[in-house]
Amino acid sequence: MSTPLRILGIETSCDETAASVVLRDEKGSGRILGDVVLSQLEEHSAYGGVVPEIAARAHVEALDTLIEEALLRAGVSLKDIDAIAATSGPGLIGGLIVGLMTGKAIARAMGKPLYAVNHLEGHALTARLTDGLSFPYLMLLVSGGHTQLILVKGVGDYERWGTTIDDALGEAFDKTAKLLGLPYPGGPAVERAAGAGDPERFDFPRPLVGDARLDFSFSGLKTAVRQAAQSLEPVTDKDIADICASFQRAISRTLKDRVGRGLKRFKEEYASVAQPALVVAGGVAANQTLRATLQALCDAQGFRSVAPPLPLCTDNAAMIAWAGAERLAAGLPADGLEVAPRSRWPLDGGAQALIGSGKRGAKA
Ligand code: KG4
Ligand code: ZN
Repeated sequence: MSTPLRILGIETSCDETAASVVLRDEKGSGRILGDVVLSQLEEHSAYGGVVPEIAARAHVEALDTLIEEALLRAGVSLKDIDAIAATSGPGLIGGLIVGLMTGKAIARAMGKPLYAVNHLEGHALTARLTDGLSFPYLMLLVSGGHTQLILVKGVGDYERWGTTIDDALGEAFDKTAKLLGLPYPGGPAVERAAGAGDPERFDFPRPLVGDARLDFSFSGLKTAVRQAAQSLEPVTDKDIADICASFQRAISRTLKDRVGRGLKRFKEEYASVAQPALVVAGGVAANQTLRATLQALCDAQGFRSVAPPLPLCTDNAAMIAWAGAERLAAGLPADGLEVAPRSRWPLDGGAQALIGSGKRGAKA
């Protein structure tokens, strides 16, 4: 499609309520015109995790104001919008219902097309908005609910090369923090503590390293952390720092092996791609040790390492609006108002469901 498109995006799949207006120009470049994200961290922190009912209520309370704010910041009104894109899975069902129903209501009232967007597709296509990447490329999605290595071949065309068979990486950080008495969310707390620690003190397991499949496993690592902490009771600050640093080192080594194999496979299967790229997305992408590991890996294998700015790595509505814009521009059909939210919705329809994978399954 060769006209500029303005898309309103809505994201409510987990604990961020977000609305955004994104422009896709005739040449396919994207620009965020207005973007608002309201985090519910405070509402959930007392419980040490996201409480679905609280999340759904918070979305209901905030969403219409956020949509107005995003439109205001973009300097447009609903009549200027070409389509509505709302996350309709995977995620917590209560939140998905709030966002998708709101999207449907606006689409119906304004007579605009609606795109029911897969949240993972939002993450997968963000690097085209921020860095103008061309297909195909590899994406490592590491968040509280997902750990996946995905081949992004085109709009609506994805192959899942690897996924976690138990905990997501962010979940491993959160659980490790919890058992060490660190605050929620655990990732930043573990990273901070690790800064003062000795990464060599504990030799934590690195499950699946060496395995020919490209899957991940982190639950054994979490168990080893628990055992180490129990054997030291009462743990000192130094012990906590050393455990966190050793935990991050085990993760770095795991990723080096798993993702490294993925890069090799990409080079074998797509030898003609002149500038292969690895995109990292999800909240865990904030972790500096992980970023350095991926950067070194990419340097060694001749890949470009792309990490969208953090607010676009974590959950946001700009990525949903952009995915809607890409679908519309690619000529993919809009969704009817009968479309239903899906708490589970694999991006790669052909991928086998793995037992235990994404148990929390709600977040991406
Ligand atoms: O993508 P995200 O914001 O939300 C969803 O999962 O939907 O990711 C949140 C996850 C949490 O598990 C959090 O602990 C982790 O990302 N995280 C980090 C860091 N910052 C956030 N993990 C490791 N190091 C960090 N600096
Ligand atoms: Zn996400």
